[in-house]
Amino acid sequence: MEKQNLNQFSSIVILTGAGISAESGIKTFRASDGLWEDHRIEDVATPGAFIRDPNLVHKFYNTRREKLLSPEIAPNPAHYALAELEKIFHGEFTLVTQNIDNLHERAGSKNILHMHGELLKMRCKHTNQIYECQSPISVNDSCSCCNLAGNLRPHIVWFEEMPLFMDEIYQAVESCDLFISIGTSGNVYPAAGLVQIANQNGAMSIEMNLEESNTASQFKNAIYGKASKILPNWLKEASI
Ligand code: OAD
Repeated sequence: MEKQNLNQFSSIVILTGAGISAESGIKTFRASDGLWEDHRIEDVATPGAFIRDPNLVHKFYNTRREKLLSPEIAPNPAHYALAELEKIFHGEFTLVTQNIDNLHERAGSKNILHMHGELLKMRCKHTNQIYECQSPISVNDSCSCCNLAGNLRPHIVWFEEMPLFMDEIYQAVESCDLFISIGTSGNVYPAAGLVQIANQNGAMSIEMNLEESNTASQFKNAIYGKASKILPNWLKEASI
């Protein structure tokens, strides 16, 4: 792979997926022991599922929230490398993540767009008011905006729903000159389509993943291996 130097670039967009948090102890979605292996997506991650069985949906996200808040889950060197990149880079920097965990924040990243929502937030399905959430949500809880039980839902983008911050994301990707995708299988759109937009606008695109993703052929460069190794190594080389 040709060597990059940070000074070549004026605007960087990073896209992260579940693979960057795998070494922090959070399951990815599509591995053989992955999250979707244990559940049917339509039972826990669609608006219809929440109407049919809100208790089951709450239980699924309550369990994941509890796990995220447990002491054994912590950012890994890949999260820290991205925070460092943002700190030392002199141009525009946008971190787009499909992850709903808070490991990028905990590592020190600042300009983060959580396109699939956040596990430590909940929202009222009527007013769309967003609240912090560190404990389990139940159908009996009421929101303080309407004072009605049953209105609170996880602040998560479910299948059939529109991802968040798409205007900001498209704007950043269209104007970046370096696009790096880390730890995503390229199965879910619109995230999987961002590399094409970056390429169309002349950006350098790099895939960093354990293995070739579904969209591997669209990247101009690729580095395969564990995110906790390949990302800090790349940053070291690129910042010399
Ligand atoms: P996936 O589980 O589909 O893919 C994770 C990718 O990370 C795979 O390609 C793995 O090979 C790679 N990987 C695993 N461990 C790694 C490591 N240590 N270092 C580098 N790469 C590693 O997860 P996503 O692509 O993030 O959406 O999934 C995208 C979306 O699908 C999720 O945001 C979620 C899901 O359905 C919603 O819930 C809306």
